[in-house]
Amino acid sequence: MRIGILGTGNVGRALAAGWGGAGHEVVLGSRRPGAPEVRAALVPVLGENVRVSDLDAAVADAEVVVNATPGTVSVPLLGSVGPAALAGKVLLDVAVGFGADGTLYHLVESLGEELQRTFPATRVVKTLCTVDAGVMVAPGSLDGPSTVFLSGDDEGAKRTVGGLLRDLGWTADSVLDLGGIGTARGQEHFALLFLGIAGALGSYGFNVRVVPPTNG
Ligand SMILES: NC(=O)c1ccc[n+]([C@@H]2O[C@H](COP(=O)([O-])OP(=O)(O)OC[C@H]3O[C@@H](n4cnc5c(N)ncnc54)[C@H](OP(=O)(O)O)[C@@H]3O)[C@@H](O)[C@H]2O)c1
Repeated sequence: MRIGILGTGNVGRALAAGWGGAGHEVVLGSRRPGAPEVRAALVPVLGENVRVSDLDAAVADAEVVVNATPGTVSVPLLGSVGPAALAGKVLLDVAVGFGADGTLYHLVESLGEELQRTFPATRVVKTLCTVDAGVMVAPGSLDGPSTVFLSGDDEGAKRTVGGLLRDLGWTADSVLDLGGIGTARGQEHFALLFLGIAGALGSYGFNVRVVPPTNG
């Protein structure tokens, strides 16, 4: 699958390595694709053949676009690429917006919902924002099975994203579909509990598991 990842930071690098290693064709989209410091941060993780382009080119060829940019700027940034370029594509959104003081930026409508409202012809799926970048691509590194969530209005897009999650090592029974894009609020707001747990454990390398009720 052709995947365009917008953002060349911790998450962009990790997901590019994960999906590239699984045989997908990955291009990273950057605001400054020619900047030596961008390449210098990517090459040690992704090798000399890493593909970096501007945001427009990364979106143009992609079947799945990944939003790995700061959630505070994602909407205008994707707006600069344009609704027409994003139309019909799956937008896998991992972003969370944090204000300058560390509080959540999207307090009522989630970023996932705002993206779906702003780009109605794009199929937004929120996922992976409840785990650290390292865990996103190595769920098996934890001391037991754990849960990752899906939120989105388009069932086909969620199936596509579910397949990409499995390519990162998430088993089918570790993926919990929460429902429509409105449920992205819960995923994004989990960031507050995530930071609390990280503080208590002294590590971001953890996850939670949803334990279902026993039958009968
Ligand atoms: N880090 C995690 O473990 C983690 C976990 C869950 C969710 N998330 C979410 O995933 C998203 C990416 O996280 P990250 O840790 O990869 O962030 P990061 O290291 O700061 O990278 C974000 C990237 O976005 C691009 N970008 C575009 N516009 C930007 C702007 N105005 N200011 C700064 N960067 C801009 C930059 O790439 P270019 O300079 O190449 O354009 C930058 O490298 C965030 O929304 C975050 O909340 C992160």
